[in-house]
Amino acid sequence: MEIRSESTLMRSDYKAPPSQAIPKARLQVWFFRVCSCILVWTCLIQLFWHSQIFTGLTNHISRFSLPVESVPLTPPPPPRNYTSNGILLVSCNGGLNQMRAAICDMVTVARLLNLTLVVPELDKKSFWADTSDFEDIFDIKHFIDSLRDEVRIIRRLPKRYSKKYGFKLFEMPPVSWSNDKYYLQQVLPRFSKRKVIHFVRSDTRLANNGLSLDLQRLRCRVNFQGLRFTPTWHEH
Ligand SMILES: *[C@@H]1O[C@H](CO)[C@@H](O)[C@H](O)[C@H]1NC(C)=O
Ligand SMILES: *[C@@H]1O[C@H](CO)[C@@H](O)[C@H](O)[C@H]1NC(C)=O
Repeated sequence: MEIRSESTLMRSDYKAPPSQAIPKARLQVWFFRVCSCILVWTCLIQLFWHSQIFTGLTNHISRFSLPVESVPLTPPPPPRNYTSNGILLVSCNGGLNQMRAAICDMVTVARLLNLTLVVPELDKKSFWADTSDFEDIFDIKHFIDSLRDEVRIIRRLPKRYSKKYGFKLFEMPPVSWSNDKYYLQQVLPRFSKRKVIHFVRSDTRLANNGLSLDLQRLRCRVNFQGLRFTPTWHEH
C-alpha cells in the first residue's frame, strides 16, 4: 500500500509541474513540424528544379525539332537542266481532290513536254466558292523546290505575257483522258508558235493507263511528296 501510495505520489509529483511537461510535448510537435516542413520544401524545390530542367530540355528539343519540321530533312534536289519549250499556264477546275489530281497530271505533262509550269491557279468559282489560292492550301515553296529536278515551276506568269500588257494568251482545254502521244503530237507543236499556252480545264486530262513508268512515278511523287498542305491548313 505504501509503495502504491508512493508511486501515486510520484505520479502526482510528476504530474504536478505541468509547465515542464507541456513544453516538452510542444517541442516534440515543433520538431516534427519543422522536420516535415523542411522535407516538404525540399521536395517542392526538387520538383521545381526538375520541372525547370524538364521544360528547359523540352524547349531545347522543340527548338531543335521545329526547324526540322518546317524545313525538309533532305535539301532540295539540284534543278534539272533542260531547254524549256514554253510556259504552261493551268486553271484547275472542280473540288480540292480533283484539283490535286489535276496538279499531279499537269506537272507530268510539263515534264513530258519540257515546259516551264506556272503554279496552277485553283478554281474559285466551284460550288464550294472557296477563295483560297494555291499558297493558301499547299506549301508553294516546297512544291517548287521538291520537284525542281524534274520540272521548272514558277510562281507567276512573267509580266510580259500577261493580258494587261496586251499579250494574247492561247487558251485551250486539252482533250480528256489523253495519253502522252496526244500531248507530244497535238500540244507540243503549238508551243513552237506560241510561248505560252493556257489550259482552261484540268480535270481528267491525262490517261490513267498507258503512260511510261517514269511519268506514272512522277505523278505519284507530286501527290505524295510535292503537294504538302500548309501548316495553317493542317490545323483546320
Ligand atoms: C545545261 O546544259 C547545257 C547544254 O546541255 C550546258 O551548256 C549548260 O552549261 C548547262 N547548265 C548548267 C547550269 O549545268
Ligand atoms: C526534253 O529535254 C531532254 C533533254 O533534257 C531531251 O532529251 C528531250 O528530247 C526533250 N523532250 C522534248 C519533248 O522536248
